[in-house]
Amino acid sequence: MESPAAHRIIAIDGPAASGKSSVARELARRLRFVYVNSGAMYRAMTWHVLGNGVATNDVGAIEQLAEKANITCHLRSDESVMLIGAVDPEPFLREDRVNENVSRVSSVPRVREIIVERLRRYAQSNDLVMEGRDIGSVVFPETPYKFYIDASPDIRASRRAAQGQRDRIAARDQADSSRRASPLIIAEDAHVIDSSNLTIDGVVGEIVGRLKLKGLTIPA
Ligand code: DC
Repeated sequence: MESPAAHRIIAIDGPAASGKSSVARELARRLRFVYVNSGAMYRAMTWHVLGNGVATNDVGAIEQLAEKANITCHLRSDESVMLIGAVDPEPFLREDRVNENVSRVSSVPRVREIIVERLRRYAQSNDLVMEGRDIGSVVFPETPYKFYIDASPDIRASRRAAQGQRDRIAARDQADSSRRASPLIIAEDAHVIDSSNLTIDGVVGEIVGRLKLKGLTIPA
């Protein structure tokens, strides 16, 4: 077990297309914290699995590949970046084939262990806003700053469509919520925000208000 986080962590969890990426990025900018998109890391691993011709139902082969993957994590403009070998997979992370397979690859326990270990390392030297599915429940359960962003299924589907992406979010949500390893759940002490009828600034404002109540100093 890694040592506990040395810095402050804001955990932002929620289902696909709930608005959490935009909210987490803007919140990090306001707080001057580092923004970490954990979903991008599961997507990068999925892209690596697909690129190596490994079947996404072959758990043993995925685990072997994940063990051998030369993963490095660093920061660029206060945002997390994950390289595999010398390659930054960022341009490929929203491909249809990644959308279609990421839930399966991210359900492999060894993949989760490897990524969670990297996620926790960021907290050794940075204050973080980290978004994902299990940040408040598993990655940083000790943080007092947990938020769960939701939105109605229709609104989430229309947000994805507006981004021009083919992404079967209902199927992903079902898979992410029902898997055995670290499923998407609402952490007991998380503050839930329904973003269906809120702007990004509205959600960020609500989070900032809660953080102030909890005694966090917000930069002017
Ligand atoms: O946030 P996103 O939609 O880009 O995440 C893509 C997938 O990655 C999501 O369907 C499940 C997985 N994921 C996960 O299992 N745990 C996380 N903390 C973040 C994402």
